[in-house]
Amino acid sequence: MNLINHKFELAARPVGLPKRSDWNYKQESVREPGDGELLVKILYISLDPAMRGWMNESKSYIPPVGIGETMRALALGRVLASQNANFAVGDHVYGPLGVQAFATTNGNGIIKVDPRLASLPLYLSVLGMPGMTAYFALLDVGRPRPGQTVVVSGAAGAVGSIVGQIAKIKGCRVVGIAGGAKKCQYIVKELGFDAAIDYKTESVVKALRTHCPTGIDVYFDNVGGGILDAALAQLARGARVVICGAISQYNNTTPIKGPSNYLSLLVNRASMTGFLVSDYAGRFAEAAREMAGWMAAGKLQSREDIVDGLDTFPETLLKLFTGENFGKLILKLPEA
Ligand SMILES: NC(=O)c1ccc[n+]([C@@H]2O[C@H](COP(=O)([O-])OP(=O)(O)OC[C@H]3O[C@@H](n4cnc5c(N)ncnc54)[C@H](OP(=O)(O)O)[C@@H]3O)[C@@H](O)[C@H]2O)c1
Repeated sequence: MNLINHKFELAARPVGLPKRSDWNYKQESVREPGDGELLVKILYISLDPAMRGWMNESKSYIPPVGIGETMRALALGRVLASQNANFAVGDHVYGPLGVQAFATTNGNGIIKVDPRLASLPLYLSVLGMPGMTAYFALLDVGRPRPGQTVVVSGAAGAVGSIVGQIAKIKGCRVVGIAGGAKKCQYIVKELGFDAAIDYKTESVVKALRTHCPTGIDVYFDNVGGGILDAALAQLARGARVVICGAISQYNNTTPIKGPSNYLSLLVNRASMTGFLVSDYAGRFAEAAREMAGWMAAGKLQSREDIVDGLDTFPETLLKLFTGENFGKLILKLPEA
């Protein structure tokens, strides 16, 4: 085998927004898979806000990426060689394969996907981790009921856009918070949200009062910071606040800004619950089946933002934090 791998290894713990020098771009020969291993040619790499947290030293739900280790990422590829009875040459597989062109793995955490059932990028978006997050965090933690008001931040993104559409399927009134006129127009005109709030040009506090006159029953938080505080100020009695993420805080160089309006939980007998998608791994197939059905019925749309080239990784990742991505951000690698 005469293949050269290209990969990004973590070189330093970033301060604020990550920069190219926080990684080393390396080339090395690809080794033959050993007993129990498989070799994967990576085709698509999922770029996720969580990757910023994995670069920090601090304690979290998963150990940090070590300095000198290949940058962790979910990715999808094709098996080139296999010494593992569960995988055959030509299988398409998905899992934590890393920011690199080829991965050699023992198959732990790797699942097979079927390219005949859905196009490959969908396995990184609506049928993958972001879709599973939207489905279980909204339905299991948010527990929306028909007629209730659901508000979601990061509403035009990979998770938020699916949350809003599922809430519509469940008969809710849905208000999305997103940055910029294009994204706001998209969630209302194309995805069928009832209203959109452009947090970059409007007062979110005032707009929530206008669009949620009876209060917010479910607030699905992807961004944290001032937008979380604004939503807390407008809760309905018995509201559920789902803490899915806090992207506005991930690159802070000062301590994370917590909510100052938290006593609204007391006043409204409301709850605020943290969510982690991996807790639901045993039920992913069930969610994927239901969401594939909604897609086939034209009730659920997915949008991917696909960028070419492994070497663009450091700059492409930043799009998540500037809001330049429009849909699930994915890096595409050449076939050969
Ligand atoms: N808990 C879990 O298991 C789990 C799993 C997956 C994802 N998540 C979380 O879900 C959230 C969304 O992830 P995603 O993959 O769907 O990303 P995404 O929404 O597709 O992309 C990130 C978006 O965040 C918005 N954003 C960035 N900085 C912001 C700021 N300062 N204030 C407000 N909005 C900001 C931008 O949208 P605008 O242009 O609208 O500003 C950007 O497009 C993240 O917080 C992520 O960590 C959690």
